[in-house]
Amino acid sequence: MVCIRMAEVSDLIQMQTTNLWCLPENYQMKYYFYHALSWPQLLWVAEDHSGKIVGYVLAKMEEDDKEPRHGHITSLAVLRTHRKRGVATMLMRNTQREMAKIFKAEYVSLHVRQSNAAAFHLYSQTLKYEINDIERGYYADGEDAYDMRCVFEENVSRERREELTREREDNERKRKEADEKGEKAKKEGEKATVVDVDENDEGIETGMEKLTVGDDQVQESN
Ligand SMILES: CC(C)(COP(=O)(O)OP(=O)(O)OC[C@H]1O[C@@H](n2cnc3c(N)ncnc32)[C@H](O)[C@@H]1OP(=O)(O)O)[C@@H](O)C(=O)NCCC(=O)NCCS
Repeated sequence: MVCIRMAEVSDLIQMQTTNLWCLPENYQMKYYFYHALSWPQLLWVAEDHSGKIVGYVLAKMEEDDKEPRHGHITSLAVLRTHRKRGVATMLMRNTQREMAKIFKAEYVSLHVRQSNAAAFHLYSQTLKYEINDIERGYYADGEDAYDMRCVFEENVSRERREELTREREDNERKRKEADEKGEKAKKEGEKATVVDVDENDEGIETGMEKLTVGDDQVQESN
């Protein structure tokens, strides 16, 4: 049996160990302390019958005054031995409830790797997060992240909700435009093969074909 409870400072070392087992994104102990001392209600653990921590969620409130009041999931993991039993769902629901109730957050945000099917299913299907944006090369290995959000309806007016939806749609439109531009530039780059750098060199002695690059096609000059 697994018990879900708020974390205590004495759990932090086991939370860090669980994180090291499960994820490549790791943090120094002082970062766990910073969370626990600042927002103790947002750290939750899953403990097995022997007192071992088998899952955790580490979350915080964003402190940027320019942005609307919102929380952020820093890290979430469940040991392999305890997955697919609803543990992560319960951890997330507990921290989200406290975020909305105590800190009056408008929404909660998080980042997830595009390749992380399990976590993406949890966030998008089970917990109803929506993709707010895509952050290109967000992770240290260059993988893109989905920037996802879940709005706390009880803390947000209808007008504000509509505004957040418009922001999301705007991000999507800009992203599509940027992707289209990138795609076009890539195609043009593939076509453009610049061989010669010396204007006087006809490329004849070496037997090289001399190429010139047109707007959208590569032509042989000779
Ligand atoms: C992602 C993770 C936290 C999920 O934990 P979990 O306790 O197994 O999740 P739950 O049991 O609460 O499952 C939640 C939902 O996700 C689904 N799910 C879980 N693992 C899945 C998988 N491997 N593939 C597809 N769906 C999966 C469950 O079926 C469930 O869906 P449902 O609500 O429609 O029935 C866990 O796999 C993990 O720790 N992974 C490594 C660390 C990680 O990726 N953390 C997230 C970083 S953003």
